[in-house]
Amino acid sequence: MSRRVPREEAWALLTEWVESPSLRRHCQAVEAGMLAYAERAGLPEDDRELWGVTGLLHDADYERFPDMDDAENGHPRSIMRELEARDAPPEMVRAIATHADYLGVPRESDMEKTLAAVDELSGFLVACAAVRPEGINGLTPKSVKKKLKQPSFAAAVNREEVRAGAEGLGVDFDEHVAFVIAALEARADELGLHGAEAAA
Ligand SMILES: [Fe+2]
Repeated sequence: MSRRVPREEAWALLTEWVESPSLRRHCQAVEAGMLAYAERAGLPEDDRELWGVTGLLHDADYERFPDMDDAENGHPRSIMRELEARDAPPEMVRAIATHADYLGVPRESDMEKTLAAVDELSGFLVACAAVRPEGINGLTPKSVKKKLKQPSFAAAVNREEVRAGAEGLGVDFDEHVAFVIAALEARADELGLHGAEAAA
């Protein structure tokens, strides 16, 4: 029998395994997007927590085990194993597997598709916010799309995955971008996304 993994436990695990503030922030940003989509779908509280925690932990082993070619421990195998050892819900473990394309686990559930759609995009939005004095506030899909077309901007973000993620979820790209921006904006304090203007 699996059990729920409470948010506090997930946060403790994340902060134990991840030192990097930017990786922690990425995980929190994905959590924010997952929670927003779970809420929009009208899911019950337990499911919303499951979606949020899955987002929060999807990259929790990336700092310790970044080598995806390490078939034993490489990301995300270590966090999947840890969650299995904790009797986490199998759908959480499976969703984390599906966000790593190279593991070859197809995305089937809404939660899995949402994770893929939110993951690369939220990384890109955080990068966009970082170069604006207003941070995430007032960021528009139009300006995001413009930046997506500049290969040198946030070059580590795979544009194809950003597009494919939204497509896999079956949402309009602009709406998806606006929706995730709003989710991040709502948690801009916690994520430090208010930009230089707020800091000044
Ligand atoms: Fe990620």
